[in-house]
Amino acid sequence: MCGIIGYTGSRKAGPILLDGLSNLEYRGYDSAGISIMDEEDQIRTCRAPGKLSNLKLIADQRNISGTSGIGHTRWATHGPPTDYNAHPHSDSHGNIVVAHNGIVENYISIKKDLIQTGHIFRSETDSEIIPHLIEELLAQCSSLEEAIREAAKRLKGANTAVIMSNSHPNKIFAFRIGNAGGIVVGQGDGEMLLASDITALLPHTRSVAYLSDSDFVTVDKDSAQYSNLNGESIDKKIEILSSDLLIATKGEYEHFMLKEINDQPKAVMGALKGRISFTNLRLTFDEIPLSTNEIKALDRVVLVGMGTSLHSAMVGRTWVERLSGISAEWDNSSEFRYRNPKFSRNTLVISISQSGETADTLSAMEISREEGAKQITFCNYEGTQASRIADGTIQIKAGLEVGVAASKTFTCTLVSLYLLAIYIGQIRGHLPNTAVDEIIAELSRLPQMLSHQLDNQDQYKTIASEYHNRDNFLFIGRGINYPMAMEGALKLKEISYIHAEGYPAGEMKHGPISLIDSNLPIIALIPKDPLYEKMLSSISEAKARGGSIISIASDSDTSIKEISSQVVRIPDASEFITPMLMATPLQLISYHIAIKRGCNIDQPRNLAKSVTVE
Ligand code: G6P
Repeated sequence: MCGIIGYTGSRKAGPILLDGLSNLEYRGYDSAGISIMDEEDQIRTCRAPGKLSNLKLIADQRNISGTSGIGHTRWATHGPPTDYNAHPHSDSHGNIVVAHNGIVENYISIKKDLIQTGHIFRSETDSEIIPHLIEELLAQCSSLEEAIREAAKRLKGANTAVIMSNSHPNKIFAFRIGNAGGIVVGQGDGEMLLASDITALLPHTRSVAYLSDSDFVTVDKDSAQYSNLNGESIDKKIEILSSDLLIATKGEYEHFMLKEINDQPKAVMGALKGRISFTNLRLTFDEIPLSTNEIKALDRVVLVGMGTSLHSAMVGRTWVERLSGISAEWDNSSEFRYRNPKFSRNTLVISISQSGETADTLSAMEISREEGAKQITFCNYEGTQASRIADGTIQIKAGLEVGVAASKTFTCTLVSLYLLAIYIGQIRGHLPNTAVDEIIAELSRLPQMLSHQLDNQDQYKTIASEYHNRDNFLFIGRGINYPMAMEGALKLKEISYIHAEGYPAGEMKHGPISLIDSNLPIIALIPKDPLYEKMLSSISEAKARGGSIISIASDSDTSIKEISSQVVRIPDASEFITPMLMATPLQLISYHIAIKRGCNIDQPRNLAKSVTVE
């Protein structure tokens, strides 16, 4: 959730920390802070509520020199976003500073004990107990390292932290317990960096190592020493990031989200490249960690995810069932992890997390691993926590996505899931080769179809002008497009703060229809597919009760105009590919409504791009 960074080397730490935090700002953006070790080995801290730009102003004024420091961008869990709740937090004497990500579940009892021994707390956060606890334990331990490890062992919950102390001016320490987001250690030339994820390290190095659960690391400018929390040294594999992830810019666009929506044809092309051959329409999927026999033996597939990734899991369920011929189900990771799920030897768990860091999804994966299920994870980055748990990773290849509300990562996940379902269906003999050929031929045209769809964006401005003042929206769909209705509603909630519900249209008569009056816009996802007539009936019933219908319908559907106030067109296509075609209209409707309402598109209130706490 929060973003943390550390640097030690020979360059001025302040600008490096602030740049790193701006790359991590998607993880939290309600307050931020940095601590720098100055030339007299004193720790200087600047913190500011609100956006990182506020911190930058203060940091520029103070212009602290020093070549080691830590920083943090916060997504508040305990205590409002004020300067005194912002990280780094320090011990009683300002000798130890900590930037923390996670939730210390037992902080109340630890805090109580520390108050009794004379510690004075200045914030409402759970995090502040960490420097105080280290300070307290120093008296009983032989070294600062040991005190940090002992403190880490006493924390309940999933937590990561970077720590700096003026007793060791050129060192940074870090630990990780559980799945509170990772810590990546980056080795530069005469400098070391630590960060919550690689995006903050990419401008400086591509040599990285990842902390696992219960790892501790001490870095100085030339090296990193890894141990477990008992102080026993461990070897770490240094990985060289081969990814061509670029540091994002908005280019000609007003917002990252708009750029990322418009990037989709290119991103989808990236997700298809190397998997389908555009010349002979063959499908290859080398990333699958299962043998042909294992694929043939599968008897159940469970797809899990959160937020937008859950919606892709829901769409994926239909593809897996219908194209692979395997019984499939989906679940929200946060529910799945607590429902004592049962697995057979031949269950495949597919987890979806573009960040590969969502705490609930990681826990769902860990449970699946303990139970011996086979696992494939879908991520947008290399070396994620999720990749380290799963048997294999399918990269969705969307490229860096900065907007907090997912757009191109969603479409690329869908494309990758679709390919997986086709591939499995082909291996199992569920899909005849002729059907595969047709599907692949259509998929190869998807980037073009998406480009074409992005041509007429003014229509979304018209819809937004008419409906942006409404308080509620209903999104309805059926079959494979029911999850897309959920995703449309989520997108609108996320960025425009309008209440919206996504429903399977068949459910309307069982409650939601009572909401319909002339104030309720209904976005109907109605492609020409086998459930078209059923959708048409639901729309007619809604219209008869005064609802305004905005239909997202196929190009060739000439009758839909009659019962719709507005019609957004998608290309005629097979049923299975329509979710990918629905995505951009849904994203653009939400985007333009949010613009009309003056919302912060790329950093909506209260949200973070990756949710690394439960
Ligand atoms: C957060 C984001 C959503 C995202 C969800 C799952 O809630 O705001 O946009 O869909 O996390 O993220 P993941 O990285 O697991 O796909």
